Amino acid sequence: MLNFEDDMTPAAVSAGVRMASMGMDANTNKDKDEHGYTIASVSTGRIKVEDKRIINSTADVNQLVPFKYKWAWEKYLAACANHWMPQEINMSADIALWKNPNGLTEDERRLVMRNLGFFSTADSLAANNISLGTYRHISNPECRQYLLRQAFEEAIHTHSYQYIVESLGMDEGEIFNMYHEVPSIRDKDEFLLPFIDVLTNPEFKTGTPENDQKLLRSLIVFACIMEGLFFYVGFVQILALGRQNKMTGAAEQYQYILRDESMHLNFGVDVINQIKLENPHLWTPAFREEIRGLIQKGVELEYRYAEDTMPRGVLGLNAGMFKEYLRFIANRRCQQIGVDVLYQGATNPFPWMAEMIDLKKEKNFFETRVTEYQTGGALSWD
Ligand SMILES: [Fe+2]
Ligand SMILES: [Fe+2]
Repeated sequence: MLNFEDDMTPAAVSAGVRMASMGMDANTNKDKDEHGYTIASVSTGRIKVEDKRIINSTADVNQLVPFKYKWAWEKYLAACANHWMPQEINMSADIALWKNPNGLTEDERRLVMRNLGFFSTADSLAANNISLGTYRHISNPECRQYLLRQAFEEAIHTHSYQYIVESLGMDEGEIFNMYHEVPSIRDKDEFLLPFIDVLTNPEFKTGTPENDQKLLRSLIVFACIMEGLFFYVGFVQILALGRQNKMTGAAEQYQYILRDESMHLNFGVDVINQIKLENPHLWTPAFREEIRGLIQKGVELEYRYAEDTMPRGVLGLNAGMFKEYLRFIANRRCQQIGVDVLYQGATNPFPWMAEMIDLKKEKNFFETRVTEYQTGGALSWD
């Protein structure tokens, strides 16, 4: 890294700052690495839109404009417009129900606790993945602006689960440590961790086809399998409770989280497709097959989690219904990133969820219910 005791010209110092912003080491500033790929050539001129790229960009990442990827900036603005905080949601009905010995069945309690057991640490994994991994490797400032917002939203989601656990007086150690103690939760996280570890490894740098594929693979796993598949059994469960007028405060929080996560997924898909467009050599038939295999594995793990959280069927839902639902969702993820669908003819057994989740638009999802948001004020519901 830069040593400021060295005698450096202002230009050399500013180039070093730019390279540090890009996750590069000033000492590695050379045009070609040993494989012949450009790894750290940073322009000092004014930004030209055509120089901006999602990965391995040579344009200064400290200059936000001119925009190249307007979809990224628009998602950043939409995410800010959707701002919410967990403590604005009234939990008193949930507390009364949870403390009433006859308020929920044992199966419903198990479902709520295992649901929180997964989500309470999943969003910390997501935040760490973004801030310690993905952010360094995305060399475009408008995408980074969205990632900063996304990282904060992941913090809000973790806050939300903590707020629910605290409100209900649950054993926080039991809930937050479930990702070590409950196999169906641990298996999902163990599947994800290697793909996060690749990006958070300080030695990892993009700039070779092999490493660029590693980044792309991790981005797909994070957006399409973690945020786009592993959250969905949990969302259905809590929203199904809410539809039966149970745990309505928690369900309201999950609605906001679902809205945020829908945008995270859509942003991730846009990033993935743009990287494919700019780097078509990465999108080989073998790579596409590998991605299909990973999505298939994700479906199996999420189905096992569904079985574990609903061993007897609860709320009119049972694990079997989730098999079809997960296949339906998995097909959509395949279509979104342009790989062949896995489960021909899969249909959605939860039409009421289609209305909430399978939205084409993201920012207006709640407009029939949320009338206004004001920072520091309360949400207004019809
Ligand atoms: Fe989240
Ligand atoms: Fe997310």
